[in-house]
Amino acid sequence: MSGQPFVRLNDDCLMPQLGLGVWQASIEQTRHAVIHALKTGYRSIDTASVYQNEEGVGQALQQSDLPREDLFITTKLWNSDQLQAREALETSLQKLQLSYVDLYLIHWPCPQNDNFVDAWKQLIELQKQGLTRSIGVCNFQQAHLEQLIRETGVTPAINQIELHPLFQQRPLHAWNDLHHIRTESWSPLAQGGEGVFDQPLILRLAQKYGKSPAQIVIRWHIDSGLVVIPKSVTPKRIDENFDVFDFSLDKSELSELAALDAGKRLGPEPESFNKV
Ligand SMILES: NC(=O)c1ccc[n+]([C@@H]2O[C@H](COP(=O)([O-])OP(=O)(O)OC[C@H]3O[C@@H](n4cnc5c(N)ncnc54)[C@H](OP(=O)(O)O)[C@@H]3O)[C@@H](O)[C@H]2O)c1
Repeated sequence: MSGQPFVRLNDDCLMPQLGLGVWQASIEQTRHAVIHALKTGYRSIDTASVYQNEEGVGQALQQSDLPREDLFITTKLWNSDQLQAREALETSLQKLQLSYVDLYLIHWPCPQNDNFVDAWKQLIELQKQGLTRSIGVCNFQQAHLEQLIRETGVTPAINQIELHPLFQQRPLHAWNDLHHIRTESWSPLAQGGEGVFDQPLILRLAQKYGKSPAQIVIRWHIDSGLVVIPKSVTPKRIDENFDVFDFSLDKSELSELAALDAGKRLGPEPESFNKV
């Protein structure tokens, strides 16, 4: 096996630090990718109801003989379901063919709707009822997190945010750390590495360690204490992205990589994103 690292969340659950993302994969692509990933050694899969591929994850899990407790399955509450989290999670569980997920996340805060605190209260109940082991959020800014904690007293285990070398989100990452919220990076490869994989520094490190640019970037997430979920439906890349446990970046290399931050967001702005 790989010797893959785990992180301990603020509710004491253990989460693999590296998982497979499946956004923009069809049900069939997801099924194949998850089957391949589980064989490679991945144990954590990140899906969402809005990805419309939870069935593919469920079918792959059915075909696997891994014990349920070895798996870490994440799905997310979509924006239009914020007032009906129980129904939404039950639908997701049915598609995933599971009786519980390991992590249930509010997908976006949608602050204009002013429903995210209500949604969070429902997630707190769902966790108590054992339908999800951990609860967290995605795309929450500091002010949204402060409001959640102030109004419910319950701190999310995870804040999954856009984070890659061109958009490092150091202030929010530090704030999450201070409040024992684990930061999870989405689009960790900047959605395919454009503008990242050809950076001279990344190429130099790739050559030094005998790794690909993608592996250097994934290792940067791991060595920065982040949870990371690169997406691929390509078997060779699924393998490549998991082959990162035999080297690590040193402090000076991490500082050099910090300089790549361009404050360049690829995805939507969380304060205004309100898609239903
Ligand atoms: N919470 C949120 O709001 C949110 C938003 C976005 C994403 N996410 C999650 O984060 C996951 C990852 O983010 P992402 O899918 O946006 O982007 P990503 O993981 O940064 O990049 C995925 C892209 O990179 C390619 N790729 C993967 N491994 C590669 C490698 N070793 N070399 C070269 N290219 C490679 C993939 O191609 P192939 O698949 O063709 O191999 C795909 O086009 C998503 O799948 C999803 O689970 C969450």
